[in-house]
Amino acid sequence: MNFSELAKPTASVTDKFGRPMRDLRISVTDRCNFRCTYCMPAEIYGERYEFLPKPEILNFEEIERLARIFAGLGVTKLRITGGEPLVRAQLPVLIERLSGIDGIEDIALTTNGFLLAKMAADLKTAGLERVTVSLDSLDEEIAKHMSGRPYGPERTLEGIEEAARVGLDPIKIDTVVQRGINDHTLVDTARYFKERGHIVRFIEYMDVGNRNGWKLDQVVTAKEIIEKIGREFPLEPLEPNYYGEVATRYRYKDGSGEIGVIASVSMPFCGDCTRARLTTDGKLVTCLFASSGKDLKSLMRSGASDEEIAAEISGIWSKRSDRYSELRESNTEWSKRNENGSRPKIEMYQIGG
Ligand code: GTP
Ligand code: 5AD
Ligand code: SF4
Ligand code: SF4
Repeated sequence: MNFSELAKPTASVTDKFGRPMRDLRISVTDRCNFRCTYCMPAEIYGERYEFLPKPEILNFEEIERLARIFAGLGVTKLRITGGEPLVRAQLPVLIERLSGIDGIEDIALTTNGFLLAKMAADLKTAGLERVTVSLDSLDEEIAKHMSGRPYGPERTLEGIEEAARVGLDPIKIDTVVQRGINDHTLVDTARYFKERGHIVRFIEYMDVGNRNGWKLDQVVTAKEIIEKIGREFPLEPLEPNYYGEVATRYRYKDGSGEIGVIASVSMPFCGDCTRARLTTDGKLVTCLFASSGKDLKSLMRSGASDEEIAAEISGIWSKRSDRYSELRESNTEWSKRNENGSRPKIEMYQIGG
């Protein structure tokens, strides 16, 4: 995708490649009620697994303060993630606080949808604009297998329905695609949400973290996905909605809506990556595939002023040179070494995607 025609937004801080900081993805918990095989395999994350203790987790006041500082540095979009963000107590209270921040134009949430039906109305009232719901298959057995829990897709589908009813739109559905696991059910997923006017984004399975046993041959490329869906429902490409959009968009030729593909493995999009990430325990991470982040929580708790924290964030962003997915693509051997865990990477549930 050539983004050159799209205006690059102005911002007060840019990195080594001239990329502005526009989005902040905030992980509000490292816990989750699912155990997706590609994220928190149940055999590793069992009943006794120790997640972050409460004192280590940013409280709402701290999250709001940091979000305000990020907004002052050019961030206009917040995405609330986890783990599963809806397991964080009182989440609508946080949303309400964040929605009052000057300069924030978009607040979205990524959820597995299990608790969404009962929370959608409160989230909407609090100021949430839209949701993205993860659902890998409509097939009962495949959904159970991939979510690592004995739940089929019903509760998630109810959550999506309720989110639509209260106006949390556009609703997007994230479907991680794994070869030999759910790739034969993609057309069914596309059909179901096409009929309901929601946007499915098919995601190439990524080598996030060190614990999911990722292998290149498990990746179904965006090209294959588009060909598969396009054979059933003819498609044509669409322009991106905004500079740095992660998904590549296609529209159904019959006018019934759109889908997206997120091709982090086969067509990396680091060139216009504007995303900063804040972990549950307050670390600033500048790439989804980073090994570590800068501990803003300790800085904040040691009494630093807003100006000092802003200076720290600007300093980190201006030195940023991350482009993991591009490097992976240009050297698959390197990527294969990573698959054995040679370099520690932050896990998906700690950073929220
Ligand atoms: P919109 O705001 O609706 O455009 O969505 P988004 O793409 O920011 O949202 P979402 O949280 O649903 O992310 C979709 C998928 O893209 C997830 O699997 C993310 O892990 C992945 N993703 C998001 N940002 C990045 C990124 O910077 N790099 C990589 N490699 N993947 C990303
Ligand atoms: N590869 C691709 N997508 C992933 N997600 C979690 N782990 C991976 C992975 N290894 C997805 C989740 C959710 C989104 C935030 O990221 O399913 O939809
Ligand atoms: Fe939970 Fe999302 Fe990870 Fe699945 S992908 S285990 S729903 S955090
Ligand atoms: Fe951004 Fe890192 Fe993803 Fe590239 S791999 S798009 S730099 S988060």
